[in-house]
Order: sequence, then structure tokens, then C-alpha cells
Amino acid sequence: MEFSKLNSSRHKVTQFDGRKVSVDEVKAILAAATLAPSAHNIQPWHFAIVDSAEKRAALSTAMHAKNAVQHESAGATVVVYSDTDLPERVRDMVKIGADFLPLDHKEDLLIKLPGMFEKFSEQQLSDYLALNTGLVSQNIVLAANDAGLKTNIILGFDKAKVKEVLAIENRFRPELIITMGYSDDAGHASYRLPVADITDVL
Ligand SMILES: Cc1cc2nc3c(=O)[nH]c(=O)nc-3n(C[C@H](O)[C@H](O)[C@H](O)COP(=O)(O)O)c2cc1C
Repeated sequence: MEFSKLNSSRHKVTQFDGRKVSVDEVKAILAAATLAPSAHNIQPWHFAIVDSAEKRAALSTAMHAKNAVQHESAGATVVVYSDTDLPERVRDMVKIGADFLPLDHKEDLLIKLPGMFEKFSEQQLSDYLALNTGLVSQNIVLAANDAGLKTNIILGFDKAKVKEVLAIENRFRPELIITMGYSDDAGHASYRLPVADITDVL
């Protein structure tokens, strides 16, 4: 779909008809979404497609009540994690990007980036992870919209509880939950602040 049409037709939808979106369909959406840019091309994201009835019910218990209702009617729910083990992520990148990266660049990445990440404060790490996972999340909802699905992005959940009920590996941090599915509700265009009010030309 043409970008402006795709972007202007994406609206928050909170009620789905319960029809399932297959794991393969969600994986195709994730493949499109992960073309998102990221700092140092670090791609510090990981996804859980919460598919089993047992895990879906467990996830509900960690979400704010209204958000749990959205998730329960959704055709698929994706939890977007960030990867807090950035030095390990660099090693993954270099392995997977072996055919793309020139040798000197590989060495540079392996030496410089882990050193930089190790000096990050907790705040710097959280900012870095949140910025990058935000970009891929926006791509997920646009790619899902392009596939004919309605979506919502959810921050209203208990991160520690999500970690516990989904038995998430320690290095990953749940950042956002994305619900998607079919619905007769097309959502509606919500207001936006005028660009003139939020932009300074310096
Ligand atoms: C980071 C983020 C967190 C959000 N958290 C929630 C949430 O917890 N529950 C909810 O119903 N909607 C949530 N939303 C959806 C917003 O309310 C919605 O995107 C906003 O009102 C603009 O509407 P639109 O998506 O239709 O353009 C969230 C959106 C973003 C980007």
C-alpha cells in the first residue's frame, strides 16, 4: 500500500473478533518490520508470539484490566522484548553479518561497541533500548496494517510480572505488547498537534 494511505489508515483498535492470525502470518509481519533502522544496526529486539492458550491466559494476568480485554479478543499478540545483553548482541551481529561486514569493521564492532555499552548507565541503556524497540514496534503495526490487520500498541502492563509468567530469559526485557487481529471496527483518526506548534525552525 502507498505509504501515506498505509500510515493514515492505521488507527488504534481495541476490539477484535477473535479470529486467529497464524504464527506464520505474524512471522511475515516481523520479517518486514525488522527492516527498521537501529543504532549501530544492533537490532536489540526479540519477539514472543504468545500463541498457546495457557500463555495467553497467563499474559492477561500481567496486563492492566482494559488492556487484557484487548489481548483476549486479539487474533495474535506479540511481546516486543529488548536485549539488555548488548555485548552478546554485537557478537550475534558479527556472526550473522559475517558475509556483509568488512574484516576491519568487524574487529571495530567487536572491540569498540562492547566497551561503549559496558560504560552505559542504567538510564542510558534503557533509553537506547526503548528508542530502538520503539522503531521496530511502529514498523510492526504498519506492516500488520498492510497485511489487512488492525492493531494496538500497549504499554499498560506489569513488566516484572510479564517476565515471570512468560518465563522470559533474563537478558530480555519486555518493552511493549502489540495486539493484532480482525475487526469490523476500523478505528478512527485521532487528533494530532499541529506541526507548526511542535516545530522550531532554528
Ligand atoms: C508507547 C505506547 C503505549 C501505549 N499504551 C497503550 C495502552 O496501554 N493501552 C491502550 O489502550 N493503548 C495504548 N496505546 C495506544 C495509544 O493510545 C494510541 O496510539 C494513541 O491514542 C493514538 O491513536 P492512534 O494509534 O489511533 O493514532 C499506546 C501507544 C503507544 C505508542
